[in-house]
Amino acid sequence: MRRLEDRVAVVTGAGSGIGLATARRFAQEGARVVCADIDPAAGGAAAEEVGGVFAAVDVADEESVAAMYSSAFERFGRIDVAFNNAGISPPEDDSILTTGLEAWRRVQDVNLTSVYLCCRHVIPYMQAQGKGSIINTASFVAVMGSATSQISYTASKGGVLALSRELGVQFAREGIRVNALCPGPVNTPLLQELFAKDPERAQRRLVHIPLGRFAEATEIAAAVAFLASDDASFITGSEFLVDGGISGAYVTPL
Ligand SMILES: NC(=O)c1ccc[n+]([C@@H]2O[C@H](COP(=O)([O-])OP(=O)(O)OC[C@H]3O[C@@H](n4cnc5c(N)ncnc54)[C@H](O)[C@@H]3O)[C@@H](O)[C@H]2O)c1
Repeated sequence: MRRLEDRVAVVTGAGSGIGLATARRFAQEGARVVCADIDPAAGGAAAEEVGGVFAAVDVADEESVAAMYSSAFERFGRIDVAFNNAGISPPEDDSILTTGLEAWRRVQDVNLTSVYLCCRHVIPYMQAQGKGSIINTASFVAVMGSATSQISYTASKGGVLALSRELGVQFAREGIRVNALCPGPVNTPLLQELFAKDPERAQRRLVHIPLGRFAEATEIAAAVAFLASDDASFITGSEFLVDGGISGAYVTPL
């Protein structure tokens, strides 16, 4: 499908995982893609692969975020889609009883303040166009509690969800849609490592998923492409769950 023909899309965290899969999908859909990442090697490789451009960005830094969008606008003359996706889940962020203030703040900065900054700096371009689609990556943990806590991560994703809903409402009549993407666990190298090292702990997660497996990044990217496109023209302010049924389940099939 070529639903994003000639549109300009900025993807943060495009160097890896969900961001990389989405940059690829956006390009297949016809978009010109700005691959933004703090890691120049990974972001540069992504840009080269999808025929897009690389933007070095630290999403927790306001000047850096502003420069990412202004350079995208200078280069292409418009910004149609912002996929605010970069995020971290470091091991120091764990139970509230062991997570110190510094670890808490770092995760809030990269996962939540970043989304505030990205929205704040991209919305004016979209207002001028009278159109735009913003997709902010939250998580299924924004809507459910977990006994294996990552307290700052969970709180940050709850913030992304609430912020996205509010922006979706505020800017709806200016043609700007804002949705929170809530992925379930994705089959990433980190998860594969957990399976290899601690199958019991991994199994504890898998048992809660009605579909019986983790998501592939391409499946998340497909949902993002839909939200970015006019196929989702009546969808804004949503909590867009792509979670294999986790959030709807009490017991799961054996
Ligand atoms: N993987 C999952 O199971 C899962 C589930 C739900 C939500 N999410 C969310 O999806 C998003 C992407 O996750 P992923 O698994 O693809 O992650 P990933 O670690 O594979 O990729 C994240 C990318 O973001 C970049 N990045 C990190 N800090 C940055 C910063 N300060 N500025 C700019 N770029 C930065 C990294 O260099 C990396 O390329 C995150 O927001 C994550 O919380 C992931």
